[in-house]
This record gives sequence, C-alpha cells and structure tokens, in this order.
Amino acid sequence: EKGGYEHFMLKEIYEQPRAILDTFRGRLLSNEAIIKMAGIEDNMKRFLAADRIIIVACGTSWHAGLVAEYIFEDLARIPVEVEYASEFRYRNPVISEKDVVIAISQSGETADTLAAIKLARSKGAFVFGVCNVVGSSIARETDAGAYTHAGPEIGVASTKAFTTQITVLTLIALRLARAKGTISSSEFRQHLIELETIPNKVEEALQSDEAIKVIADIYKDSKNCLYLGRGFNFPVALEGALKLKEISYIHAEGYPAAEMKHGPIALIDEQMPVVVIATKTEHYEKVVSNIQEIKSRKGKIIGIVTKGDVSVRELADHVIEVPDTLESLSPLLTTIPLQLLSYHIAVMLGKNVDQPRNLAKSVTVE
Ligand code: M6R
Repeated sequence: EKGGYEHFMLKEIYEQPRAILDTFRGRLLSNEAIIKMAGIEDNMKRFLAADRIIIVACGTSWHAGLVAEYIFEDLARIPVEVEYASEFRYRNPVISEKDVVIAISQSGETADTLAAIKLARSKGAFVFGVCNVVGSSIARETDAGAYTHAGPEIGVASTKAFTTQITVLTLIALRLARAKGTISSSEFRQHLIELETIPNKVEEALQSDEAIKVIADIYKDSKNCLYLGRGFNFPVALEGALKLKEISYIHAEGYPAAEMKHGPIALIDEQMPVVVIATKTEHYEKVVSNIQEIKSRKGKIIGIVTKGDVSVRELADHVIEVPDTLESLSPLLTTIPLQLLSYHIAVMLGKNVDQPRNLAKSVTVE
C-alpha cells in the first residue's frame, strides 16, 4: 500500500508530479489558451461582482490560502483576505452577499472551517470550496467548488494536498484574471504553458533527495530552526516550519525575511539553522542581503535557490537547487525540498512520521 516507500509521507511527496498533473488535466487547455472549470464558469458573475475574496482554512490549507492571496492579487487584482477559520467564525466578521468566500480543506471535514462556511453562508456570502475528499462535508456545504485531484493523503503531514491546492487556486486566479482583463493574452498563455511544465520540474526538484539527506543529518539535533521567504514564498517558509514542527518536534518558525530585523534576528547564533528561500525573484537582491545579515551573526544558512545560482551559493553553508519558473508558480517547486528536509530529519530522529504524536489527520473538533 505504500508502493515500496518506507512511509506514506514519502510516497505522497513523490506523488506530487502526478497529483499536480491530475489536478490541472482537463482544466488547463494550453492549445486553445483556455481554462475550463465548471464551478467558476457557472458562477462567474458572483466572482466578478465581488469587491474582495475571503479565504478561510486551517493549518497547511491556510498556508495555501496565503500563497493564493499573492497570486489572486497579482494576477486578478482582487483584494484577498486570508483568515484562520477558527478566528473568523468567532469574530463577528463583516460579511455580506457581496462577498465571495473560498474555503480550503484537504479532508473537507475540519470543524472550524465547516463552521466558518456556515456562518458566511448565513450572511449571504457565496462560498466556494477547494477540497480533496470527494463528497466530504465541506464539499457538500459549499455553493460550488473545485476538487484537488491529489488522491488519498494518508500521512498526517500534508504534502501533495498543499501543492494541488495551490494548483487549483492558480487556475482560478488565472481564469478570473482573463475574465477581468487584468492579464494580457500572451501573459495568460505563458502562465498556462509554464504550469504544464511544473510536474516535470517537481520531478527534477525531487532529485535533490540524497543531497537533502546529507543536510538533514547535519542539522537533525538542532533545537530550533528558522525559515525565511518573501513574497509568494513567504507562506512557503511558514509551511516549511510547520512541517518540521509537526513530524520532528523541533521548534521552528517561519518569517517574512525582512521581519528578521524587527526581532527574530536576536535568536541567531552558530546553533541556529536558517532555511532561506532565495530563488530568482523580484526580491532576490533583498533576500541576499538578508542572508548576509544572518551570516554575519554566524547563523547556518540552507538556501533554496534557482538552478545555476551564484550569489547565494557564495554565502550559504548549503544550497538546494530547484528549476527556474515564473515567480508566481515558484511555491510549487520551493516547497519540495522543505518537505524532504523535514521528512529525513524526522526519520533520522526515529519519529513516527505518518502519525505524529498529538495530531489527527482530520480535526473534526473545534
Ligand atoms: O483537512 P484540512 O485541509 O482542512 O486540514 C487542515 C489542517 O488540520 C491540516 O492542514 C494540518 O495543519 C496538517 N497536519 C498540516 O500538515
């Protein structure tokens, strides 16, 4: 059942090229330059009339929501707010018939997310679900939706659900961007073509597995770990930290790289590994200077870089390469080494990777 892999988590990490492909197959038609998603087409008026989109989710799904915030705002120019479902539901949120709410959930059974959906619907909002489990409670309680086609995710630590959620949300953002005219037809086409290359690029990213194992062995006894990223990759830093916490029980935090100087930099010493997502993006130079700040305080730097990178390689203690892609799609690649790093550390520490202590696969209590 684990298909020859030692754990479900590893199997599910390796299934990502396929899962991402299955998620855009039949929806992304690059030859015709269209995106076909019934749940969006049928409700286009509601989406286009919305002044803003509110995303509700928990845990890793909330991180996918944060990535979506950057993508929706950048491509479709729709303001997005991302809320923890548990906070949203008890906050007496300002919400009306004009709002579109997107609920993201792998299991489709998360109690807080379900309650947030019910609240939003009771105020007249249109609620769209992004779920992995077909026929789940959230899939049934939403007005419309789009499934991720990740296949069953057994490992408690979410992996392929995350990257397929980002895939679906990217398709939605692109479709809305096209409808709103906030993206040119050539840019739209370029995104479609590039998205189609992602499964192969994820495959390539997976090839760093052995190199990541070596890094895992060096840092497995750390007590703390920081993850930094900017822009589209800031949520990836949060997700990397969550993954390490939940399966290895090492304390980890994710931060926007530029926030370091507002406090967390005080934590840096020679005992502190810092994973920095430093791929070629608009903020590349800024991230390089953030790395210099950490280095001058003797932190150990593990850089996630674009293939062929030179500047970060000179500064970092280790680099892990991922293929080049559009900045908005880069989270689909930068996530992969972070999953593998957590996985190997947890295995080396002898932890129960698929069923970490205190955690359940679906959180059906609030
Ligand atoms: O099934 P959901 O996507 O609604 O679950 C939300 C969280 O409970 C889930 O992502 C959790 O944070 C995972 N254990 C993360 O790996």
